[in-house]
Amino acid sequence: MAFFLASAFLLVLQTYAAPPEFVKAGFGITLDPMDFDPGRPVNGSGDVASSPPPGTSKRAPHSIIIGVRKGGTRALLEMLDIHPEVAAAATEVHFFDWDENYAKGFEWYRELMPYSYPHQITVEKTPGYFTSALAPERICAMNSSIKLLLILRDPAERVISDYTQVYFNRLENHKPVQAIENLLVRNGALNIRYKAIQRSLYDVHMRNWLRHFPLEQIHIVDGDALIRDPLPELQRVERFLNLPPRIVSSNFYFNQTKGFYCIRSDGRERCLHESKGRPHPAVNSTVLQQLRSYLQEHNRTFFRLVKRTFDWQ
Ligand code: A3P
Repeated sequence: MAFFLASAFLLVLQTYAAPPEFVKAGFGITLDPMDFDPGRPVNGSGDVASSPPPGTSKRAPHSIIIGVRKGGTRALLEMLDIHPEVAAAATEVHFFDWDENYAKGFEWYRELMPYSYPHQITVEKTPGYFTSALAPERICAMNSSIKLLLILRDPAERVISDYTQVYFNRLENHKPVQAIENLLVRNGALNIRYKAIQRSLYDVHMRNWLRHFPLEQIHIVDGDALIRDPLPELQRVERFLNLPPRIVSSNFYFNQTKGFYCIRSDGRERCLHESKGRPHPAVNSTVLQQLRSYLQEHNRTFFRLVKRTFDWQ
């Protein structure tokens, strides 16, 4: 807890020290703070501001990382962007779950994609799609054969990560924060209306997707495995997307300070933004147990739905 508070304090200091454009980008009033993802691909392929290199064009995404929020979506997109035949979108679009965006039409959506060469595939990520009631049907209406990527991690860990992101966002916005136990428990029982818990009911959301897409069209990336050892997960994604194998072990190195793998590509080394891989608070063990046992039945249903199991506690 002390470590968590100390890091929160440091973060507040960093925020005050951040250049104005960072603060502005981070707290745009149109975005729910939960939706803001400050990390972005840095190899240039997704830079919407630069003038188009000759021979490139904008095309609708061939694949979308649909979530789950805090599952490791940013890590997956950036690691996939190592591949020379991948052009990753620089920004989240929220095209299919925000009516005002959807009303602008597919042409508008395509314009938000990066310029790409004919031999490349375009990939975008919008983590909110997995839990969106509208996204599956709308994505299907745009392209019923699109390849979907879903990265999931232990759903209880995901709840804590979700809480941690909101906690830091609220600190940065000078809003009051609560201990996680106060959100997880109401009147002595698990607060199953807490959004962070609802987003971790993977079976509920998956059912919605399977109404519109066959299971074979949704590749699930094991987010816990991606943290431990990214290469095998990326190789599976390459196969799913029919990409030639180009991502290799030397594209990753473990950064002791960050405690996570970072990326080495095009002669440069980079780690994810500091908001990725933050320390989590210690959660009261009884409350954590309550949460885990509530999620267990949902996890079992999810395993049946996707015909696969995961190593979740
Ligand atoms: P935490 O910050 O809670 O640890 P998303 O990009 O979907 O918001 O997911 C964020 C999560 O990605 C982080 O959650 C972190 O655990 C995970 N992650 C996976 N690989 C990572 C990496 N190489 N560097 C940093 N975070 C990584």
